[in-house]
Amino acid sequence: MIEIPVNIPGQPTSVLVYRGALESFAAVLKTHGTATLPRRALVCFDRNCAVHANHAVRTLRAEGVAVSEFGLEATESAKSVRAVETIWDAALAARLDRGDCLVAIGGGIIGDLVGFAAATYLRGIRVIQVPTTLLAMVDAAIGGKTGVNRTLPDGGLGKNLVGAFWQPSITIVDANTLRTLGKRELRAGLAECVKHGLIADLELFHDIRKNADALSNNDTTAIDRLLPRAILVKTAIVARDPLERGERAKLNLGHTFGHAIETLPLSSGNLLHGEAVAIGICAAATTAKSMEMINADEQTAITNTLASCGLPQRFEGTTTVDDVLRRMGFDKKNEGGKLKLILPRGLGACEIVSEPPESAVREGLRAIGIHS
Ligand code: GLY
Repeated sequence: MIEIPVNIPGQPTSVLVYRGALESFAAVLKTHGTATLPRRALVCFDRNCAVHANHAVRTLRAEGVAVSEFGLEATESAKSVRAVETIWDAALAARLDRGDCLVAIGGGIIGDLVGFAAATYLRGIRVIQVPTTLLAMVDAAIGGKTGVNRTLPDGGLGKNLVGAFWQPSITIVDANTLRTLGKRELRAGLAECVKHGLIADLELFHDIRKNADALSNNDTTAIDRLLPRAILVKTAIVARDPLERGERAKLNLGHTFGHAIETLPLSSGNLLHGEAVAIGICAAATTAKSMEMINADEQTAITNTLASCGLPQRFEGTTTVDDVLRRMGFDKKNEGGKLKLILPRGLGACEIVSEPPESAVREGLRAIGIHS
């Protein structure tokens, strides 16, 4: 068991990495980290994760906690204000007050939805995050970003456009839950781990490359070695910049490209978020190479590492460079009229680049198979 404190001024929280934690969930809350046992709890879970939720519910009830349960659909289209309303109403029906808490058991969609419901119910009650996907364990369930999607004026999906920063009272990472995760989803989570290595931990980056097979097969030793390192990259950044005023934006490496292609249909179905991030990292690497921020060997190391994790490096759908540039905000710019991209500077470090040259970005898009 490893407990990682996240020292956010005024909102200290922690991440507990503990295989088997769900089977002694109530005891864990009593004895570890920044959470305590509530009087009442609403346990919200991805309907595909009922088996994990049952463990938590059983141990809480055994300790006398009044528990209500609420199953949710974990799809991007169900990540809506309507779903948040159903959580508010379930919390009202369970008579939760400010001293009580919500528990979110599932992947990033569930954590975002339940976290946002917690941030707004009674103007804010505690939430305990229990991520069950690798992606949520190392990224989404840490750092307090919560929210829902909205439909854009042009009919497109606007991801996470409404939300709040609301730190969990604790994030409990039980890697046993990965046993029920599909291989494709596990690999998608590895994309965020590669991202964390590239941002700030070169040894983590090389470790993923060396152990890619074992990691893709959910090997216990490899996963247990990976989790704390990948989590530490995130917790360190969040503690320094909880509200994303600066450095936290580095966690979006690959995301500006990734978001622009993530919601586009493919003939073979949609990309998972982590897969879109992997392709986005490849585009960022080519853009960085063209700006001489990384060299050819470093670019190859990035693409090879993603490939060894079984992650895609090209977008296999139909779109154009101009359409993707528009989706990235090149037509209207973003913050303060300036487009920002996160790009690697060598391996193990990255920079927030304001107004990158469009020609370099176009090169990045061509490298992932998008042509005019
Ligand atoms: N997933 C990026 C962040 O939490 O800032």
